Amino acid sequence: MQQHERANFGSKLGAILAAAGSAVGLGNIWRFPFEAGNHGGAAFILIYLGCVFIFGLPIMIAEFVIGRRSKASTGKAYSVLAPGTSWKWVGYFGVLTGFLILGYYSVVAGWTLEYVFQAAIGGFSGKTPGDFVGMFNDFSKDPLRPLLWLFIFIALTHFVIVKGVKSGIEKSAKIMMPLLFVLIVLLAVCSVMLPGAWKGIEFLLKPDFSKVTSHVFLGAMGQAFFSLSLGMGCLSTYASYFSKDIRLGHTAMSVGLIDTCVSVLAGLVIFPAAFSVGIQPDAGPSLIFITLPNVFQQAFGDIPFLSYICAVAFYVLLALAALTSTISLHEVATAFLHEKFRFSRGKAARLISCSCLLIGIVASLSLGDWSEYRIASLTIFDALDFLTAKIMLPLGGMLAAIFVGWFLKRKIVRDEVTNNGLIKAPYYSAFMFILKYVAPIGISFIFINELGWLG
Ligand code: PFF
Repeated sequence: MQQHERANFGSKLGAILAAAGSAVGLGNIWRFPFEAGNHGGAAFILIYLGCVFIFGLPIMIAEFVIGRRSKASTGKAYSVLAPGTSWKWVGYFGVLTGFLILGYYSVVAGWTLEYVFQAAIGGFSGKTPGDFVGMFNDFSKDPLRPLLWLFIFIALTHFVIVKGVKSGIEKSAKIMMPLLFVLIVLLAVCSVMLPGAWKGIEFLLKPDFSKVTSHVFLGAMGQAFFSLSLGMGCLSTYASYFSKDIRLGHTAMSVGLIDTCVSVLAGLVIFPAAFSVGIQPDAGPSLIFITLPNVFQQAFGDIPFLSYICAVAFYVLLALAALTSTISLHEVATAFLHEKFRFSRGKAARLISCSCLLIGIVASLSLGDWSEYRIASLTIFDALDFLTAKIMLPLGGMLAAIFVGWFLKRKIVRDEVTNNGLIKAPYYSAFMFILKYVAPIGISFIFINELGWLG
């Protein structure tokens, strides 16, 4: 164990914001609103909250226990806590998952920079809805431009990572997270004040239980995993930098709350504005990169300055959210190389940045020139998303739950959640019951369902 010279987050708030920075990302602003809107609005939100409480928070605490106790990144934590066993493969599996996610996630993160740029130079003004479709298609299929932004985004992530834990990750989270929160609240206020906005609020918040099927339950659970950054040891790596006095249960609650608030606020930015200008919200990339520029253009058309500011603010917000998440993904692999092979942080970070750039290039080109290369009929980009988010994350989360629920000594778990008996953890019995039974069985269901989709 490399107990000495190990970095720590400097404060409890810094630790919470860094973990929340990992959780809040493209998953909240891009994926959640659409899932909620199309799967029964408030009904989906209620089920999602259930998933966050029942599966998400206990698994997050389990990952915190693994990280803080081992004082090692996820790639090494299992070897420290269960030496000489095959559990170490769970750690390596987490590193691989994070590395693959970082590759394709950075592609979309790079797109956010193109849109910050376009918004800033006034590139949206005077465009018709058709122009926005053309603009996005031309850009995402262009062989070079997305690669340039991918490179810039990975370079930004790299820069924060080499600065280290306290002055890189923690400091950036302390600046970016409050800024992100202020921006999203302001945008939500602007959006809900637009004429006819209530239709969008209704679309998002009116419970419609007729749309709830078993698929909705499973979708909500998958969304909870991706959004809370669970299942690949990302938060367990951050927890290895937690000091002894951090309350694991309290930190998990705070991260879960911040993440969920941002998701709901993102819905309140997107849907009221879209309905107000009579645009039917669409899925995935087109919602964020085609519908929204159009919405900003039309909704505040009478006040061009407001439309300009809202567009710039929104894409800056998206880029910041993506950056705090790519930092956390990068850290998992960097810390692993640093600890396992004793590379300096700089060298480890360079290796990860370069290889992730290669994956990103392949993923990006697979949406354009290389779209004919397919894996089980999916482009390489979609295949990476499917494999990591739908299979590897639930599997990693289930294994972490089984590890803490069944294998780790009871005393270790209790000591961690109670800070060696200094604080109370009234949730302990329920937490253990979930880790032992509820999570493994529940996650097996998502898993079987997703594999069913493959066939
Ligand atoms: N939670 C991030 C999001 O919602 O965009 C994505 C993510 C980050 C997933 C880190 C997994 C992870 F380890």
